Amino acid sequence: MLPGAGKEAWQANVNGEAHEHLVDSNAILLDVLRDQAGTLGVKRGCDMGTCGCCAVLIDGEPKLSCLCLAKEAEGTDITTGERLADGHHLHPIQQCFAEAGGSQCGFCTPGFLIVCSAFMEENPEPTRDEIKCAIEGNLCRCTGYQQIVDSVEMAAAMKREGVGPPDATGAKSDPHPLGPEEPSLPPGSSK
Ligand code: FES
Ligand code: FES
Repeated sequence: MLPGAGKEAWQANVNGEAHEHLVDSNAILLDVLRDQAGTLGVKRGCDMGTCGCCAVLIDGEPKLSCLCLAKEAEGTDITTGERLADGHHLHPIQQCFAEAGGSQCGFCTPGFLIVCSAFMEENPEPTRDEIKCAIEGNLCRCTGYQQIVDSVEMAAAMKREGVGPPDATGAKSDPHPLGPEEPSLPPGSSK
């Protein structure tokens, strides 16, 4: 009978908060993030490095957490989809996924958002072909990818120009747009 994995102390900065957990010495980062750090925005798809659902930023670099041992990420700064928004304000890539239909069932979306947010940092003015290359490691069963490419193109323009996305429906994806009426409390909270 094989001996079980020993337990080890593990610590990292997850979404700006210090986390310390006792983890199996061979624990996979995806399991630690979902089961111990509680960041359920990191999705488990294939568990073998082919779908991109589990992507997180480790020290700013997109990585597949299902292929990463927790100990490899020891002491790093880990960002998941939960941290992309700035308080009440969506990240441009989140807002544009909502506006352009880049998210449908949503299961693949956290991985796309992580990969695309990092890509937009390194390429602020991407062509559609460059966007397609950037997302080639992420699978989506719903959208046909066209709307995802549209979303990234729109978000890159929004980020460059500092303006909101065109609003075809009249609906606002960001319930707290920046401006003089910016609320200090979430909707439904009484002062
Ligand atoms: S769950 Fe990690 S790539 Fe699919
Ligand atoms: S939106 Fe459903 S898998 Fe991508």
